[in-house]
Amino acid sequence: MDHDDGISNPSDNRPFHAVLAANLSRRKILAGGLATAASAFLAGPGAAVAASGGTPARDGAGRPLIGFRPVPVAAGSGPMPRISEDYEFQVLIPWGEPIQPGSGIAWRGEPNSRPSPDEQAQQVGIGHDGMCFFAENGKSNERGLLAINHEFGDNLHVLGKPAPASLDDVRLSQHAHGVSVVEIRKLAGVWQTVDSPKARRIHGNTPMAFSGPAAGHPLLQTPAGSEPAGTLNNCANGNTPWGTYLTCEENFNGYFGATGAWTPTEAQARYGLTAAGFGYGWHNFDARFDLSNPDYRNEENRFGWVVEVDPADPAQAPIKRTALGRFKHEGVALTVGRGGRVVAYMGDDEAFDYVYKFVSGRNWKSMRAQGLSPLDHGSLYVARFNDDGSGDWLELTIDDPALAARFADQAEVLTYVRLAADLLGATPMDRPEWATVAPSGEVYLTLTNNSSRTVATAANPQAPNSDGHIIRWRDSEQHTGTTFRWEVFLLASDTHGTEQSCSDPDGLWADPDGRLFIQTDGGQKDGLNNQMLVADPSTGELRRLFTGVTADEITGIAVTPDRRTMFVNIQHPGNGNPALTNFPAPPDGVTIPRDATCVITRRDGGVIGS
Ligand code: FEO
Ligand code: CA
Ligand code: CA
Repeated sequence: MDHDDGISNPSDNRPFHAVLAANLSRRKILAGGLATAASAFLAGPGAAVAASGGTPARDGAGRPLIGFRPVPVAAGSGPMPRISEDYEFQVLIPWGEPIQPGSGIAWRGEPNSRPSPDEQAQQVGIGHDGMCFFAENGKSNERGLLAINHEFGDNLHVLGKPAPASLDDVRLSQHAHGVSVVEIRKLAGVWQTVDSPKARRIHGNTPMAFSGPAAGHPLLQTPAGSEPAGTLNNCANGNTPWGTYLTCEENFNGYFGATGAWTPTEAQARYGLTAAGFGYGWHNFDARFDLSNPDYRNEENRFGWVVEVDPADPAQAPIKRTALGRFKHEGVALTVGRGGRVVAYMGDDEAFDYVYKFVSGRNWKSMRAQGLSPLDHGSLYVARFNDDGSGDWLELTIDDPALAARFADQAEVLTYVRLAADLLGATPMDRPEWATVAPSGEVYLTLTNNSSRTVATAANPQAPNSDGHIIRWRDSEQHTGTTFRWEVFLLASDTHGTEQSCSDPDGLWADPDGRLFIQTDGGQKDGLNNQMLVADPSTGELRRLFTGVTADEITGIAVTPDRRTMFVNIQHPGNGNPALTNFPAPPDGVTIPRDATCVITRRDGGVIGS
């Protein structure tokens, strides 16, 4: 999203500047049709991950992974989405649709009207982002719960005015954020919401719980109270092997501001808190978001976490899992590593911020059998990408003398984990976004762009980095070790002017066959709207499956168990401007555009991406 462009990292963790000028005479990469460049890369000092360098990957039945006809560059613009000729899509759960269809409370983009705050709390929110489909009985391809994040909505879009004029306005905005859980069903070939005891809205005022090492710590308590409330800026997501949903709090700083005298602490500055915030103006009517109000000291420390939601229990208070650290969490990609330990890869999406990994203390099943959450007990690491293609996971523990000299306890390390990572010498990256773990065991990570970079490094080889790149690595010890080998998979700028054109990679998912789904969020080149492409991880070939609408972003990926239905989101269509698009309504210049989910199927019923 647009609010990610700031920089809060003043540390001088730039260990590679001097080394790399010579080493990086434009490192060759795998993707963008430059398959033969693979050998050049692999012959270099960073050689690490085995790549076939040109032989297309195949699925389990021996067919090429990607067989669909791509959306041509020339067709990928305009006010309505476009999809490959081999596919079709329908629209589901736009902003303002009731989570219980029988309730009849709907707002459908009528100009000059908005839902009331109470209505919004029973409707699908705005800013559709990460999501997960929880199939009924774990296997249905036609019925289940869809948990979906609502990242943000600008005041003009949500309120119809540039700033809130009352606490009611603030409540409407707060209720448009968070998570929706809706029950959806395919009836007569069409997906729709159905009334459900499990449907729920979680938003900026929903009661929450803390768990893990920082729970109960004074840093997470305000003079006004210790009960956390609300989740905000819910960006990407993860899902656990035990069937829960993880929603990630990203740019929480933007909702805070100051009505009076306030000087940021070192930690507040490091988390990008400012007197004006991003212009939401909540602090003018809701003291909780006023940094200058002493009653709410530390309130900002209650945001910036990964939050666990049990979609099967609508009464559950979502749990902020502090062991995973506090930062601008883009997403969380879970896998099970050596010894059955759960491993979570996470990006901190800000220019020059870091990549993190959490490893549970023991086998997740045995922990849960003892009533312990695998997400409460374990080790948190931050990544250092060395210029020779090796990497190190640096543990963020109070047992490290460098951290013990600065922080009182592990709770403080986790609450101010950006500061701790600075001290350990983590590698500043070009805005880490989504990660995904491929069936090969390789981990892929999007680095969306960094226009502020002035000196290239091995892992961030362009300065400025206007269009982003994708990196991949292989961890030691089946994801649980402290070293890894990495390489650059894609430099988006290499695709420009070709039919594979893309920029600003953001959403990312490797399917069980190894196909890599890449979603974009940023100014595309060659006249394109934001889009979703499918990559062959062996050759780097990209095919464009779907394009969005003017001034939107494409984000969020969920599938049914058979992978013959995929859910993908169009976020902030037209940036809320009806003159640019009226999506999901047909173009008429009137209806306010609404974020919505698109349900994608292959015309022949095949696996999505094939
Ligand atoms: Fe929520 Fe970094 O996009
Ligand atoms: Ca983004
Ligand atoms: Ca994103």
